[in-house]
Formats: sequence, C-alpha cells, structure tokens
Amino acid sequence: MSIDGQDDLDGLMAAGAAVAEARDEMAKHAKPGISTRDLDEIGRQVLARHGARSAPKLAYGFPGTTCISVNDELAHGIPSTRKLRDGDLVNIDVSAELNGYWADSGSSHPVGSISTRHAMLLRATRRALCDGMAQARAGNLLRNVGRAVERRARRSGFGLVRGLCGHGVGRHIHEPPNVLNYYDKRLQTRLHEGLVITIEPFLTTGAEVFEEADDGWTLKTPDGTRGAQFEHTLVITKGEPIIVTASRQAAAATTSNHSGQA
Ligand code: CO
Ligand code: CO
Repeated sequence: MSIDGQDDLDGLMAAGAAVAEARDEMAKHAKPGISTRDLDEIGRQVLARHGARSAPKLAYGFPGTTCISVNDELAHGIPSTRKLRDGDLVNIDVSAELNGYWADSGSSHPVGSISTRHAMLLRATRRALCDGMAQARAGNLLRNVGRAVERRARRSGFGLVRGLCGHGVGRHIHEPPNVLNYYDKRLQTRLHEGLVITIEPFLTTGAEVFEEADDGWTLKTPDGTRGAQFEHTLVITKGEPIIVTASRQAAAATTSNHSGQA
C-alpha cells in the first residue's frame, strides 16, 4: 500500500507496535527447553492484547499464530512440541492485521550459547537488512535495495537464498512489489514516498536454495545448513524510512541515551 494521510500512518504503526512487541516478547523467552508451541502462545497473547490477528492464519490458514523456524528451517516453521536446545538458532517471524492494516517482522536469535560462526551469520544477516534499509528512500530504484543486500551477503561469505524476498505490505500481508535480495538490472521500479514494503534477507551457512518440508509449510535448506532472517516493515520517505516494526523498547532507550549525551 501507499500511505495516504495520517490515519493510514497511525493505523499501520499500531499494527507495527503489536507485531514488534510480540516478536520481542517471544525473543526474550527463546531459551533452551521451551517448546516452539509455548513460544507461539506468548506471541498469541501479545497480539490478542492489542486486538490484532495473526496474518498467516488469517490469510493462509497457517496452523499457528507466528512462524518459528529452527536451524535449517528458513521460514514458515510450524509451532510444535519441539523444544529449543542450547546452540540452536531460532527465527521468529510475526505478522498481524489490526483494523485493516498489516505489518510483518522477523528476527533470528541464538538459543543459549552458539558457535562463533553462527553468531557471525546472525550479524551478517542483520547488517544485510540495515544495508538494504539504507537504500530504501523515495526516488531510489528498488533494485538498489537488492544490490546492497546482495553485496553484504557476498562480502560476508555466507549463502544468500535468492528465492525468498521481501514484499509490499499494509493492506494485505503480501502485496506488490517483490523486494528482491539481489540485484536485477532489468527492474526499473522506483521507490516513492508513502510506499510500504518489507525487506527480509535470508542468509545461510551454505545453501542458496530452499525446499518445502513434508508438512507442506516449512521452507528449509536442502542440505541441513542453517539460516537466519531479519525483517522490518518500512514506510518510504524522502529521508530515512519509518521503521514500522521497530522495537518500541529500544527506541525509548535510544532516545534517553541521546538526551543523556546532549
Ligand atoms: Co515475515
Ligand atoms: Co514478509
């Protein structure tokens, strides 16, 4: 969607606040021993408190409130009795609808203590999202977002899953345009003020392709290599994008840090 006035922005930001709080609250509890179903229940309660509804359930009949993908799972992992274990990587992807507005965000986290290489994978993937967001401004070509993400992935030495991408969002969970995680010079789409998109790079310790698991939902690497994803919903402006799904707690902390330094 494209934001058309303050009501749109307020509505979208309210959906983003619900998604961000659910994501952060779940991440806080992503410790060894918790089942992904219990983690999902934490997210469900946060969304319910905001009056928000699970986007994957609403739009696609997904058998869970949130998507929780562990290790070689990249996306759309189904919450289950599986317990998180020390050394796992867990991706928490929360998307929700509130009063007709939809927001989408994901983040990958260490469970207990993880290897240095896996910590580097998380850092590189987060940086790829930041690099992509730095290109997300009105007037720029959309393909430059993909170029920045791809560059960061290449530089890091990790695998980039080209078949998974970001997307337009706002009035539905998946809208045009696709936001590719690589450079395609044929794409002439230009970003305009008010456009709402997600950026979501998927990096791995090896694989650059994915396959669907037997459950009909989970997308995973074919070779068992591990993946990470970070995703935000953004509103394009002439300057820095508005991060709709930014952590509200971190934003408050940043503000107080700044005032402390001033
Ligand atoms: Co998502
Ligand atoms: Co998404």
